Amino acid sequence: DCMTSRHLIKLPGLIDVHVHVREPGATHKEDYASCTAAALAGGVTLILAMPNTNPAVVDEESFLTVKKLAKEGARCDYGLFVGASSDNASSISELANEAAGLKMYLNETFTTLKLNDLSVWNKHLTHWPRKAPLCVHAESQTTAAIILLASLANRPVHICHVARKEEILVIKTAKEKGLKITCEVCPHHLFLSTKDIPKLGANKSQVRPMLVSAEDQQALWDNIHVIDCFATDHAPHTIEEKLSSNPPPGFPGLETLLPLLLDAVNEGRLTMEDLINKLYRNPRRIFSLPDQYNTYVEVDMDEEWTIPEAMPYSKARWTPFAGRKVRGAVHRVVLRGEVAYVDRQVLLQPGYGQNVREWDKKLFAPLPSDSRPSSALDRPISPLPHQNEYDTD
Ligand code: NCD
Ligand code: ZN
Ligand code: ZN
Ligand code: ZN
Repeated sequence: DCMTSRHLIKLPGLIDVHVHVREPGATHKEDYASCTAAALAGGVTLILAMPNTNPAVVDEESFLTVKKLAKEGARCDYGLFVGASSDNASSISELANEAAGLKMYLNETFTTLKLNDLSVWNKHLTHWPRKAPLCVHAESQTTAAIILLASLANRPVHICHVARKEEILVIKTAKEKGLKITCEVCPHHLFLSTKDIPKLGANKSQVRPMLVSAEDQQALWDNIHVIDCFATDHAPHTIEEKLSSNPPPGFPGLETLLPLLLDAVNEGRLTMEDLINKLYRNPRRIFSLPDQYNTYVEVDMDEEWTIPEAMPYSKARWTPFAGRKVRGAVHRVVLRGEVAYVDRQVLLQPGYGQNVREWDKKLFAPLPSDSRPSSALDRPISPLPHQNEYDTD
């Protein structure tokens, strides 16, 4: 209630750049209505939705389908990723202005979009407009490989869910060399490690990248200044699926994101400035996201509580953080002037959320005087354009 004394702090509406909504194709795990309720309950007012749905978002038709579902179902604002496939490099860039960004899956995970062929990686790196966001799932050696190819293509790349010491250190060095690499880290890699696997069990603890050692985890905290964004990689699978003989990898994370990070602020492991940089300022800059007018989150820094077996809004019905005591809670969320969440109730209805790319339609478009497609215009300018040996077209 609002009568007890509270230590309330006002934050901007937070941005989660890595969310799996599961619609279309797996709405028993999550859909736009449930996912964006979970987002608002977690203080997140803008999500960027991943394309590994069923069907996957890889062309105009599948993009139209997800745009319609999101428009009908979303309670908070959103952007929609498109996925890189082995044969859409030349066509998908048509959607660069409308998409949140392009996602490339370079390692094994829960997706049908894994790309094996280095020449395909390179085609996407050179065709997708340079100013439009390009995100990669790249683990271990793949992190180094994609940093080199991005450097050769002279373009920015955002590396998803960095988890290992070797990954954060190679990104740190790449940044020191001036390469346009940015990255995100997930709460589950900051707050869970292989030490938690016995308690969680082998099935529930499945996630990609896998939970890391205490040494890897420490390297993430030691290099907190290298981390551009915190992102949940909210990847809901039901508790039944997680306990089955072939458990899919992924954790729900939207509803626990802010409580875990506020607890870290309370413990002096993180500054509030860092939290706002990594969940608001840097996501806006890296993904060219607009301001959400009259949008903010009120958090109670002193509320102490224990994370329950399942958080209320995700359809996952379990959380890997169950039983953890935290100090810090989301009290109230206001989105574009409307109270979205207060005292554990989500108040906004499906359909209130807007696609932020529709606010600013020509974001990555070529100059009006030039009629060439943006993919051609934005190719790297080098002494020998298009002489890259991996580009075969
Ligand atoms: C994600 C999912 O379930 O969609 N799973 C995961 O373990 N992270 C896919 C991904 O982000 O790699
Ligand atoms: Zn209250
Ligand atoms: Zn991934
Ligand atoms: Zn993911």
